[in-house]
Amino acid sequence: MYAIRRIGTKLQSANNVRQKHTLPDLPYEYSALEPVISREIMSLHHSKHHATYVNNLNAAEEKLAQAQAKGDIQTVITLAPALKFNGGGHINHTIFWQNLSPKGGKPSDALVQAIEKDFGSMENMKNQLAASSVGVQGSGWGWLGYNKMMKKLVIQTCQNQDPLEATTGLVPLFGIDVWEHAYYLQYKNVRADYVKAIFDVANWQDISSRYEKALKSFILKVFCHLLKFHITSAYIEGMYILIANSPTAIIQSIPSQPIVALVCVISSFLTRDQWIYSI
Ligand SMILES: [Fe+2]
Repeated sequence: MYAIRRIGTKLQSANNVRQKHTLPDLPYEYSALEPVISREIMSLHHSKHHATYVNNLNAAEEKLAQAQAKGDIQTVITLAPALKFNGGGHINHTIFWQNLSPKGGKPSDALVQAIEKDFGSMENMKNQLAASSVGVQGSGWGWLGYNKMMKKLVIQTCQNQDPLEATTGLVPLFGIDVWEHAYYLQYKNVRADYVKAIFDVANWQDISSRYEKALKSFILKVFCHLLKFHITSAYIEGMYILIANSPTAIIQSIPSQPIVALVCVISSFLTRDQWIYSI
C-alpha cells in the first residue's frame, strides 16, 4: 500500500512503486498579483525556485528508496537534510500560492473572533506577523499558525525552508516567504515594504478555511479519544456483569446504559462457554 501524499499532483513512476511530486499549477496568472508582486517575480518564483525544490525532493526520495532497499542506513541518514529542505520548500510554496489571491475576500467571522481574542485586533496581528517576518535573519518564513493544544493563534518564524507543522506542531494558516527570491527584483533590500504590501493580496478565504479545518481536526481527535475511553469503560463494566453471572443485570442496563448492554451481548458471544455455564 502506498503512502498518500498530501500536496501536489501525483504521478506514478514507471515501475508503479513510487509516486513523484509535481509542481502544482498556480490558481491564477503570474501577473494576477501585480502591483504587489510582479509577474517576473511570480514566474521565476514558481517555475524555477519551486520547481527546483520539487525536482530535488524527487531525487532525494529516489536515493532514499535505493538506500532503504540496500539497507544502507548511512546514506539514509545523510539524506535527511535534503529531504527536510526540499520537502519543506515544496510544502511551504504550495501553501504560499494558495494563501495569495487578487480577490482574497475577508476573513471569516470565526477567524476574526480568534484573532481579536489572541492578538487584540486584526491590526495587531498584522503588525506582529509583519515585524516577525521582517526580523527573520537570512532566509526563512513568517507564519500565522494555530496551536491545537492551546487552542490559540500564534506568530512563528522558521529558518530556511523548515516546514512549520513538521518542525513546531503548529498548523500553518498564512505564510510569508521572506527569501530574497520572493521580493528582491521589485523591492530590492526593503523587505519591510514587501511584507507590508503582501497583506493586500492575502487570500483570507483560504486562510479562514485552513483555520476551520484545524479546528475540526482538533474536535475530531477529542471526540475519538472520548469515544475510545467510553467504549473501554463500557467493556470493563460489561465484563464485570458477565463475570458476576447476572443476565438480568444486562437486561436492566439496556435503557440507562445501552453501550454497556451492547458490549455485554458481544462479549457473551466471545465468551460463550462462560455464558452457558452461568445459565
Ligand atoms: Fe520562495
